[in-house]
Amino acid sequence: MSVREFTFGKTGDGREVAAFEIKNAGGASITVISYGAILQSVLVPDAGGALRDVALGYDAVEPYEANPNYFGATIGRSGNRIAGAAFTLNGKRYQLAANENDNNLHSCPDGYNFRLWDGKAGEDGLSVSFRLHSADMDQGFPGAFDVTVTYALSEDNAVSITYDGISDADTVANMTNHSYFNLKGAGCGDIYDHFLTICADGYTPVDAKSIPVGTVAPVEGTPFDFRTAKQVGRDADLPCEQLSFTGGYDHNFAVNGEGMRQAAELFSAESGIVMKVLSDLPGIQFYAGNFLSGPAGKGGAAYPVHGGLALETQYYPNSVNEPAFASPVLKAGERYFTRTVYAFGVKAG
Ligand code: GLA
Repeated sequence: MSVREFTFGKTGDGREVAAFEIKNAGGASITVISYGAILQSVLVPDAGGALRDVALGYDAVEPYEANPNYFGATIGRSGNRIAGAAFTLNGKRYQLAANENDNNLHSCPDGYNFRLWDGKAGEDGLSVSFRLHSADMDQGFPGAFDVTVTYALSEDNAVSITYDGISDADTVANMTNHSYFNLKGAGCGDIYDHFLTICADGYTPVDAKSIPVGTVAPVEGTPFDFRTAKQVGRDADLPCEQLSFTGGYDHNFAVNGEGMRQAAELFSAESGIVMKVLSDLPGIQFYAGNFLSGPAGKGGAAYPVHGGLALETQYYPNSVNEPAFASPVLKAGERYFTRTVYAFGVKAG
């Protein structure tokens, strides 16, 4: 196990971006970069033992400075949507940027995915940590928030992402990773043939602007039933108001149980690669890459619509404004600590 550090490139304004490759004894590796604390590649063995890069992304800094799809991105301070781009905390109203309809999406336009993080290889030889100081009122959020995101790769091909932060005032903390996976390999067609399981009896229906209406609806009898493995494309084009609101799957699922547990599993019969998603958070956003666009990807690859899917662990979208949902409020001086694991393996079709 080793970490190799090298220069990935420079930002448009001349700042150096570091890359860190973590490789295990079996040859699997991940590369993470200090720009956006982005997971840039995930090379894992397929059923025949050949390595495939299963994460969508870019070869250079420049496309990450736009990154319209948020490939590999660390999202913060609060992922997904906040209705009306505003919330009230301790009786005070806070305004964020309205960057999608009237709402805020992914704390952008000045998201953590566009910051240069302070990266450092772990002494354990299997991890890399990125630190960020987010000032009081950064993006409109109260409290100075100091956060470290640590990526680690295990000998058995599990990628873990740990978020460890603290704020000096009550704030909202709801970070996620926005990697898109294609288990045939990034650039190898679409993911409609992948088998997906989501460990959720319920999901959060949305309005026409993708804001949850505040209920958890049963998945049973709907296209959102992924309780047993189902090909992503099987029900994707069924007539369904929820799917028409979002142009395809782009919904939060209420993951069964609590604590660290399995939230989802993805499998490609073509490669034999399987990925389990484990999380300690209440929700997971399944986004089927309905609007993938932008410049060519790694190695000049074209990523078509549905060329990858994201499984973003999270507090439910708009939970800061929705009392029925678990709260993403982080109290002053308390530790923000959460972990997501993408565990890779192979199995027979
Ligand atoms: C999340 C959202 C989607 C989309 C992507 C980024 O998954 O729910 O609607 O905005 O991020 O492209």
